[in-house]
Amino acid sequence: MLSPIWSLLLLGTATVVATEVNYATSTRDIASLLQIEDELVGYMRQYVQELQHKINKMRKVQEEWKTRSEHVKTAAESYVANPLVSFPLMLRMHVDAKKWLELGREDIQKGPLQELVNRDLTGITDMDLQDATRGLLHLQDVYSLEERDVAKGKLNGIQFDSRLSAADCLAVGSHLDSLNDSKLACKWLNVSLEQYEEHMDPVYKIMETGRFHIWEKMGKTLLEMHDLNGSQSAFKKLLEWASKEDDTWLVNHLLDNLRYIAVNVDNCRGKNIVPVKSVLRCRYLTEGSPFLRLAPFKLEQLSLEPFVGLYHDVISSAEREDLINLTQSRLENRGTHLNFVEAAVENNASGYVESLHRRIEDMTGLELGESEPLMVYNFGTLGQHFIHLDCQTPENFVEPFPKEYRSATVLLYLTEVQVGGYASFPALGFGFKPTRGSALVWHNIDSSGNCDSRSLQATCPVILGTQWVATKWISGSGQWRRKPCRK
Ligand SMILES: *[C@@H]1O[C@H](CO)[C@@H](O)[C@H](O)[C@H]1NC(C)=O
Ligand SMILES: *[C@@H]1O[C@H](CO)[C@@H](O)[C@H](O)[C@H]1NC(C)=O
Ligand SMILES: *[C@@H]1O[C@H](CO)[C@@H](O)[C@H](O)[C@H]1NC(C)=O
Ligand SMILES: *[C@@H]1O[C@H](CO)[C@@H](O)[C@H](O)[C@H]1NC(C)=O
Ligand SMILES: *[C@@H]1O[C@H](CO)[C@@H](O)[C@H](O)[C@H]1NC(C)=O
Repeated sequence: MLSPIWSLLLLGTATVVATEVNYATSTRDIASLLQIEDELVGYMRQYVQELQHKINKMRKVQEEWKTRSEHVKTAAESYVANPLVSFPLMLRMHVDAKKWLELGREDIQKGPLQELVNRDLTGITDMDLQDATRGLLHLQDVYSLEERDVAKGKLNGIQFDSRLSAADCLAVGSHLDSLNDSKLACKWLNVSLEQYEEHMDPVYKIMETGRFHIWEKMGKTLLEMHDLNGSQSAFKKLLEWASKEDDTWLVNHLLDNLRYIAVNVDNCRGKNIVPVKSVLRCRYLTEGSPFLRLAPFKLEQLSLEPFVGLYHDVISSAEREDLINLTQSRLENRGTHLNFVEAAVENNASGYVESLHRRIEDMTGLELGESEPLMVYNFGTLGQHFIHLDCQTPENFVEPFPKEYRSATVLLYLTEVQVGGYASFPALGFGFKPTRGSALVWHNIDSSGNCDSRSLQATCPVILGTQWVATKWISGSGQWRRKPCRK
């Protein structure tokens, strides 16, 4: 029902279909929306009426059956010995019950509901909504209006009849947030809370615009602004309101996610570093390929279950330079909040890339044949990759799996940043500062083949410096070809 709390932070821009009709800028077209709304309201009223008829019928039956069962005064066996009792009982259970159960199951498929379901609203697009929002914000900007005044219909000293609802203000706040204007977004969210209409609670819950949704948005927006204290208190409010729902699943879900956010913040601040290097955790990896016996890897094992390991000094300076050279001209921006750019590098892009691939196979003991190309990322100041799972469990375990079923992830650190840029494992509770030339490897799949939620990972915001990282997601497909002498 509720998407994981971090997924919203990672939302890309929605695809928008161009249409001939432009609802937001032409008043004639907007007027046609009024007519559509009228029609929908008509169908809804009909549907509600028919539903009410059904409820009335069901209630009658239920009352009548209840009265009969209340007549059972004597012991059940002597009571049913009377044919005047047993015959109608048999009839009710054998014939009537079936019919009533059918009535219960039967949806009011035809008629108004069908009309509602079939009403095509795809002509009204995200773009139209964005245009309409822009229009509203333009008005606010031109006349330097307070959000509160706009919401209350007070424009330039004139009081209008119309007002914006809490849900409307939330939508404006979300739009601003998607434009990176977190500060103004918070103000609109604040107004949304002020305007909140108690009596709309049941409807708002269905529309996911209830009070705790507003606090959730507020917490995330403050987090993006690096206002950790502010986001923490917003998340507290979120929990408070969510607890009032009496929905333990929801509350636990939120608690889990908030816990991750809090741990992640600590990881990123260097409060949960991996314990000092011990002989037990540091070893030279020599088993496996002949290559490893000649040039063993220096492996620092950070977690056993799921496996997380850091391989030191595995990427040469020429290889690091080559990867950066190969991508520098082709980096593409990803969203506005994230402040990082990325580019894919084909497996045969250069001799360096090919030998890196062989090394990754040696390090992990996994086949790369079915995997996605290497991705090179450049994180600028405040660039980060928020808490995420690299893996999605497929519905059917049939090869080839969807590409999202990634058995392991390898992060190659091409540069080192001065401040920030920690690698964080929120569910495992540790973070560390990666060093240039090292490779971080972790497994995303548990022993049963499902994605392992403990492998949640994040790249903390870069505070000072630029971070270059290359990622190899290793597909779950093709691993049956794994050479038996390897791990
Ligand atoms: C988005 O926010 C980042 C960091 O706060 C900032 O550097 C960037 O310029 C902003 N982008 C836009 C489009 O406003
Ligand atoms: C939101 O409102 C509270 C009090 O109503 C205030 O303390 C806070 O500064 C406001 N935040 C913003 C971003 O306007
Ligand atoms: C955040 O809270 C901590 C302790 O709760 C406090 O020491 C710190 O000054 C606060 N930071 C800001 C920016 O308010
Ligand atoms: C990367 O590019 C720089 C400048 O174009 C060049 O001097 C260097 O040799 C290149 N490095 C590799 C490994 O190709
Ligand atoms: C890499 O392989 C593809 C297809 O096999 C080929 O089209 C491309 O030219 C190759 N690129 C290089 C740099 O060798």
